[in-house]
Amino acid sequence: MSSTKRDMAWFHNRKVRGKNGDRPSTAAFSSLVGNEVRRFHRGVPRYRPTPLVHLQNLARFLGVKDIRVKDESFRFNLGAFKALGASYALSWAVAERLDLPVDQLSFAALMNTHLKEQVSQITCITATDGNHGRAVAWLAKQLGCKAVVYMPKGSSPARFRNIQEFGAEVSIIDGNYDDAVRLADKHALEKDWLLIQDTAKPGYEQIPLRVMQGYMTMFNEALEQMGDNKPTHVFAQCGVGSFSGACQAYLAERFGEHRPVFTVVEPINAACYYESMVKGNGKPHVIRGSLETIMAGLACGEPNPLGWEILRDYADMFISCPDEVAMTGMRVLGNPLQGDQRIVSGESGAVTLGLLYRILRNQGYAPLTDALDLNEASSILLFSTEGDTDPEMYRKILSGENPLQTL
Ligand SMILES: Cc1ncc(COP(=O)(O)O)c(C=O)c1O
Repeated sequence: MSSTKRDMAWFHNRKVRGKNGDRPSTAAFSSLVGNEVRRFHRGVPRYRPTPLVHLQNLARFLGVKDIRVKDESFRFNLGAFKALGASYALSWAVAERLDLPVDQLSFAALMNTHLKEQVSQITCITATDGNHGRAVAWLAKQLGCKAVVYMPKGSSPARFRNIQEFGAEVSIIDGNYDDAVRLADKHALEKDWLLIQDTAKPGYEQIPLRVMQGYMTMFNEALEQMGDNKPTHVFAQCGVGSFSGACQAYLAERFGEHRPVFTVVEPINAACYYESMVKGNGKPHVIRGSLETIMAGLACGEPNPLGWEILRDYADMFISCPDEVAMTGMRVLGNPLQGDQRIVSGESGAVTLGLLYRILRNQGYAPLTDALDLNEASSILLFSTEGDTDPEMYRKILSGENPLQTL
């Protein structure tokens, strides 16, 4: 069921196909909900669908039918997809705190001048490895509430500044991402602040669910942009698994048993989903320690229980990758074949393209490509979930330096 090759490891989750009943409902990710979330986003300033880039020449070069990449570096001018989840969840939480109706949620209603004073009394708090915190700080600033953001040890100065520029109170704590989540949780409880986190725990499910639902706008746009070209394969990068879990649930709702082959991709040192699948007792497995990887957005050791249940019971493949795979993806997207469009993609954004490139260019991975049923009829959908959110690292990697030597 699982095998390894050159540092990469994979787990083929064969039992999910043809499995009926007895698995978590995906109803919270129906097309109806997706349309409602997109209606909300249309009311958020600077909302515009991000481009879906068709890499025709790369597809031909790699021997597949199509490769399409959703370029999230353009999302709300923030460089990453995360504001889709943060804007929906934070608006929902503020509306709830003010006793406003949360169905038919509208950004404009929250900006009503009569609410200004009340909103300014609210503080929201979150933990982040960069992009989510930036998105929360951005939205808090627009709404006029305060934001407190905790980052793990080792966070890059660029990512720190990106959050501070929106007026949030940011600190780097002495611990990893999961420690930062726990600290934010503690302070939210003590101070009655709004905790805007993308990972659930018993008694705290509503906000993470809204974050996940917020991501549906990206999938909704992508399928609309693809028209009749339904994807046969989707690869999704995974940190806590809110993004990939939402994507998988949305596809399961939309296509049922005819959904695309779905692959979850993680960094080796933070592969909590892959490790949980290999353990095979149906429970999420926690990875502790520094979770060192250049893929900062994916450096999470504890699966979000909401994402875990969905991916465990619906996703086809789980792959853990070394950092070099992300670097390959950044370089291939940043230096496209003639005629293909360039995509500026950061470490966490590019890992899925790097993986695709590696397994289709090396015969040694034939058992994996066979298991995935990847061939000249495959139409692949990827998400470049961030641009150069750490510009210095991006420049180094694109210019051929290997940052792993200095890590
Ligand atoms: C750029 C980027 N891609 C993907 C992810 C993964 O999302 P999730 O943590 O929901 O799995 C993150 C998370 O921070 C991210 O920043």
